[in-house]
Order: sequence, then structure tokens, then C-alpha cells
Amino acid sequence: MYHSVCNLSDLKPNVPVTFEVDDRFVLVTLIDGEVYCIDDVCTHDGGTLGEGEVDGNCIACPRHGAKFDLRSGDALCMPATEPTCSHDVKVDSGTVLVQLRD
Ligand code: FES
Repeated sequence: MYHSVCNLSDLKPNVPVTFEVDDRFVLVTLIDGEVYCIDDVCTHDGGTLGEGEVDGNCIACPRHGAKFDLRSGDALCMPATEPTCSHDVKVDSGTVLVQLRD
């Protein structure tokens, strides 16, 4: 089931925005004209990624510096070794819709 989170025009390139979808916090980011969604959770120790520093497609966890790809959720450096979950996104008539994966 897709959930409406925002308007596409609300997103600025490479600036993640945190939304709560079904009691789960996710980061939605516009990158190179595509919208991506990953969990707002670091897989190292559960830190919140949303306040982290962004460098291109990557966000650094503010707690211990693990980096994640904002498009895929892949862990890019230690201390995280597991990806954070990515979710399905579609844009319909200018509205960004997110479907959670497990
Ligand atoms: S909780 Fe994110 S790097 Fe440790």
C-alpha cells in the first residue's frame, strides 16, 4: 500500500526529509531527478540518520560516522556492515508516494 508523504516540489535535491509512515521513520530524498526512500535508522546501533551530513548520494550517521547510500540503503563504510531498508517510491501527479518493505 502506497502512502502519500509530500509533494515532489517540496523536495530539494540531495536534501533528505524525514517522514513517519505507519509508525516508521523514513528518509525521502530527491537525487538526480529520482525520489528514493530508506529507513531513518542506522544499522550499526539504531542511530537516526536524518540529522547526518550529506555528501552527494551518501549520508553519514551522526553517532559514529557510518555512511549509507540514500538511494539503496547500502552501508558504505564501517562501523555499519548491513544495509538499512529501502522502500518503493512513485510519483503520481506531483505527489510522492512510499510503499514500505519489510
Ligand atoms: S549508530 Fe550509526 S554509526 Fe553507530
